[in-house]
Amino acid sequence: MTSVVRFCLIEGDGIGPEVTRATLRVLEAVSRRFGIGFEPVLCEAGDEAARRRGTPLPEETLRKARELRVVLKGPVGETAGEVVTVLRRELGTFAAVRPAKTLPGVKPRCGKSLDLVIVRELLEGLYVQTEYTDVVAGDFAVALRVASRREVERVARLAARIAKERKGMVAVVHKANVLRHTCGLFRRVALEVLRSEGIHVEEYYVDAAAALLVRTPERFDVMLTPNLFGDILSDLAAELSGSLGLSPSANIGEGTGIFEPVHGAAFDIAGIGIANPTAMMLAAAMMLDFLGYREAARAVEKAVEDALASGARTPDLGGNLKTMEFAEEVAKRIEATVQH
Ligand code: IPM
Ligand code: MN
Repeated sequence: MTSVVRFCLIEGDGIGPEVTRATLRVLEAVSRRFGIGFEPVLCEAGDEAARRRGTPLPEETLRKARELRVVLKGPVGETAGEVVTVLRRELGTFAAVRPAKTLPGVKPRCGKSLDLVIVRELLEGLYVQTEYTDVVAGDFAVALRVASRREVERVARLAARIAKERKGMVAVVHKANVLRHTCGLFRRVALEVLRSEGIHVEEYYVDAAAALLVRTPERFDVMLTPNLFGDILSDLAAELSGSLGLSPSANIGEGTGIFEPVHGAAFDIAGIGIANPTAMMLAAAMMLDFLGYREAARAVEKAVEDALASGARTPDLGGNLKTMEFAEEVAKRIEATVQH
């Protein structure tokens, strides 16, 4: 082994352990082909952890995540909100990078293939979870929304970096006509950073962006959004591209990263070995890319695409492969070029 990667591994709930196992099989193939060693450190988080330990995010998990700085995380069930928002804050992951790309042999929902990336601000907006209510009757509630130059600058710079490797354009999504201060600041700082980086900038109100995503998704390449808008638009884009079940997400900080599928724990099909592990495999590819193993990352993406193109499918895509059978299809394509 030329190098060893240690990362915090959270299996998650429902189909989490199954898609995690399939993804580890793919990393084993990467290991064989590229000589990268992987040392996943299993950490508890989620509904199971809450049942067993009384908290969905035990202190040891937080400590390990802080120490290892990189987390590969399966889908979490009911407690997802408590797990991810805290983990993101702890590791300072200020942006979620969410590609929505139509994969081979997968039918896009709107008749047009998608290939775009949503870059979502991840630490502020309404996600600061500062809400108040009148405790007596609970008939009134108010939430604070935060926007700061520092965070918008960071996320806009990342969007610019991604755009430079793609088409050099970014669509800034906001609602500054109504939310003059919070969205206004997001818009102003994002435009300033992107223009100074030589990016071609367009701007859209979030409602129009949603409609146009369905009508003419090809007009978008990189979309930069505040936290809540990005949460909603990334599910929309993922589903339009084919299926929410295939989309990965990378939460990026300064030297820290959390990599996860966008989909949930799918309790209804858990434990029977038929879950589609594509999103988690692609999340692992994003982790490899983040760690600088670009060739290995591309190899995983290509193996997933080639496997799907060859007709290898789990039942959600109309096939009959089990989770681990699909993993073998992907793994063997990565290993195929190993020199003996
Ligand atoms: C996501 C999820 C989370 C979010 C939830 C689980 C808190 O929907 O990663 O998009 O809203 O960010
Ligand atoms: Mn979401």
